[in-house]
Amino acid sequence: MDEIKMLEEVESNAAHDLEEVKDLNELQQKKALYLGKKGPLASIMASMKNLTVEAKKELGMRTNKIKASLEAKFEAKRKQIEDMIVNKKLESETIDVTLPGYKLPTGGIHPLNQTVMELEDLYIGMGYTVAEGPEIETDEFCFEKLNLPKGHPARDMQDTFYINPELLLRSQTSPVQVRTMLKENGKPIKIICPGKVYRRDADDATHSHQFMQCEGLVLGKNITMADLKGALLEMVKKMFDEDRKIRLRPSFFPFTEPSVEVDVSCGICGGKGCPTCKNTGWIEILGAGMVNDNVLRMSGYDPKEIQGFAFGIGVERITMLKHKIDDIRNFYTNDLRFLNQFKEEK
Ligand code: DAH
Repeated sequence: MDEIKMLEEVESNAAHDLEEVKDLNELQQKKALYLGKKGPLASIMASMKNLTVEAKKELGMRTNKIKASLEAKFEAKRKQIEDMIVNKKLESETIDVTLPGYKLPTGGIHPLNQTVMELEDLYIGMGYTVAEGPEIETDEFCFEKLNLPKGHPARDMQDTFYINPELLLRSQTSPVQVRTMLKENGKPIKIICPGKVYRRDADDATHSHQFMQCEGLVLGKNITMADLKGALLEMVKKMFDEDRKIRLRPSFFPFTEPSVEVDVSCGICGGKGCPTCKNTGWIEILGAGMVNDNVLRMSGYDPKEIQGFAFGIGVERITMLKHKIDDIRNFYTNDLRFLNQFKEEK
């Protein structure tokens, strides 16, 4: 029977075509081609009316079987294509859980705080403790008990912000000396006090209306200027480098007698003279001296029993020298391009 041959051909052609199908669209087209109303199976069925009953039965059964088998094949292919689409999508959405996470931006310790932490470390190593005092201070502690009575000309150097005639933003960390002496009541003292101070200065490359100091006070029996020099030389060697020298120049502070200004040998020219040290080979970094008898007496210490020294380090000054920073305003303008340079990488 020719029809049977045709059927077999249709079946094998369809199976072959199905293998080539790549997407659902194509599948739909092929399905219509083979199983549609105008397809070969439909026309074979239509041509059956002229056959014998026996032949009709035989061909009808065969046709239906092939139709069913083709339908199953098309269905299987459709599932296969759909699975492929889902798999592709899943693949494109896969997350590699072994990839390292994104690095989130982190902050760093401000360069001034880094200096304060280094100062604290090194002075704690020498037996000092860290004291603190308020930034809103009384005139009495900031000036009077430091031998700067009202109207004293040396107050001019530290004009500050007054809240009222008796309260002000401290212009120096020295009032913490007074507070500590009053608290210790005649006992020996060995403290440093880092903190913020304020002055009515116009901001420029070397002045800021708010800056930081680190005060030091050591009181005890038989303390001399040699001890002061040792405490400062040690600090300079640790903060800068071992080859640095210091120089003590006579100066005046109302709260110390004798008073000195302390210079460090210039790290850029090694002391030979260069623009940074204005050709002197030395750079001023702090004020210091032996605590004035009046200051001791006013806070309950007997100068015949106990003496000592004090110093006031400029934190900005040291940080600027250490990192070759030429404008103090950099510390206070919060420019991340500046600050990020001082971040320790983790
Ligand atoms: N308080 C002084 C200032 O701000 C610095 C200073 C000088 C502090 C001598 C001291 C000192 O303790 O003994 O200029």
